[in-house]
Amino acid sequence: MQEKLTQLHDKIAQAKKGGGEARNAKQHSKGKLTARERVLLLLDDGSFQEIGMLVEHRSKDFGMEKQVFLGDGVITGYGLIGGRLVYVFAQDFTVFGGSLSETHAEKICKIMDLAMDNGAPVIGLNDSGGARIQEGVKSLGGYADIFYRNTQASGFIPQISAIMGPCAGGAVYSPAITDFIVMVEETSYMFVTGPNVVKTVTNEEVTSEELGGAKTHASKSGVTHLTASHDLDAIKQVQKLLSYLPQNCKEKPPEFPYVLNDELRPDLTDIIPENAQHPYDMKDVVKNIVDEDSFMEIHGAYAENIVVGFSRIGGKSIGIIANQPMSLAGVLDVDASKKAGRFVRFCDSFNIPMLVLVDVPGFLPGTDQEWNAIITNGAKLLYAFSEATVPSVTLITRKAYGGAYDVMNSKHIGADINYAWPSAEIAVMGAKGASEIIFRREIASADDPAAILKKKENEYAEKFAHPYRAAARGFVDEIIEPQDTRRKLIVAFDMLKNKSKKTIDKKHGNIPL
Ligand code: HXC
Repeated sequence: MQEKLTQLHDKIAQAKKGGGEARNAKQHSKGKLTARERVLLLLDDGSFQEIGMLVEHRSKDFGMEKQVFLGDGVITGYGLIGGRLVYVFAQDFTVFGGSLSETHAEKICKIMDLAMDNGAPVIGLNDSGGARIQEGVKSLGGYADIFYRNTQASGFIPQISAIMGPCAGGAVYSPAITDFIVMVEETSYMFVTGPNVVKTVTNEEVTSEELGGAKTHASKSGVTHLTASHDLDAIKQVQKLLSYLPQNCKEKPPEFPYVLNDELRPDLTDIIPENAQHPYDMKDVVKNIVDEDSFMEIHGAYAENIVVGFSRIGGKSIGIIANQPMSLAGVLDVDASKKAGRFVRFCDSFNIPMLVLVDVPGFLPGTDQEWNAIITNGAKLLYAFSEATVPSVTLITRKAYGGAYDVMNSKHIGADINYAWPSAEIAVMGAKGASEIIFRREIASADDPAAILKKKENEYAEKFAHPYRAAARGFVDEIIEPQDTRRKLIVAFDMLKNKSKKTIDKKHGNIPL
């Protein structure tokens, strides 16, 4: 037996070396951790159970039979994060550049199948040169097997991708289907075709970082939801993100016990500026409503005119969707609609109640928006809110104008409770724009058009720039004092905690993609 045990120990030791000392040192010299280090840092101490450590590739071409690395370039298994089960795979760049072979793909699929069968999240730590070039179509088939599982798992278990190195070609589509992407700055990139192909096809000169680095995808494309300054930061963000999420769509998110205390937040009274045209930071509102330091912003650098993220209120996880008057006056545009629409659908899939904070002057006008399909894209957000059945509370802090009033989780499309602050203005459009249209002739024929416009504007504002007409109709359930907002929301979400709503029996809807 001793001999057999020694053989086993030797094999384990060999597998743990990955691509060998020199390649591990090279990985470290780039500021990157090895795949094994990443997995061990991600999971609770001592909880990692590896599956498939001794898997070998089956390739015989190009002398591959002489190059065998146990585990075949991906570490797979399960373990705990904060005491909760997760499944994980980590591509090992030190073995054939973390490239995906047939067996490498099989290992990932096995983990995903287990995760689905047992209803727990999957975390992928991606660091790979793409398809294993020596294997050809077998590797492409392996990718497709993964994409298919990503799609089956979508909405059933949370899926998170950390991009911690190269991720190129069709390989990007697995992370793209997952729920959240975290990219490490400077050491990771994602693109369908790299700078060389770009140069050949379009004659553009661009670096990998400009084309598909973390900052590019965080701000320009919105492909990544989060960025991290280094590997450990990415791992910590994944752990934090999971703390808000349930294990699967049948469960509720983790909840901490909470007893109502002194919930008054007088600072909220002074946030809305006297002049309705002046901006304020909606994140100050969020900060004064949610449990201390509990807000985790998602997609923070993309479409900054809408803020989305997870938080806790009275110990319960919530998703926040909030117009941001600090950026483009909080207007809804193509990117904001896509960003918020996707976030709403995630919350709804995973039983995360939503808090919607509204200060929106409308949709952004212009050819750029129309030609980029603000119609179709704006409809995504409208559809997502209308489809959602999770508990949701909407609070109008200031403007709720036009179609954007409807879209931002109005009572009509399914909000459970609608609050407004006394500063709310709920109307078809702003007083100035409205007066210019309906009193056009009167203004044009006046001796002093500017004075008449001002007078009409004031009249219109007096009639509509307040929440009382909406409250009279029951479109707003209650007008609340800003300082009392936190208490009102804790009580409302507690009241809604057992909400259950049947959906129509159909295969699936047809969201305007
Ligand atoms: C096999 C690969 C590999 C690959 C890298 N390696 N990519 N082996 N298949 N796809 C190996 C290298 O031979 C090398 O082996 C080791 O990994 C490290 O690679 P380096 O080039 O030394 O590293 P670096 O300089 O950091 O460059 C990393 C890289 C580069 C930019 C990723 O390796 C690269 O361009 N690789 C090819 C990328 C590619 O074209 N992939 C196919 C894309 S198409 P040694 O033995 O020296 O350590 C695709 C289709 C997917 O993925 C479709 C899905 C639907």
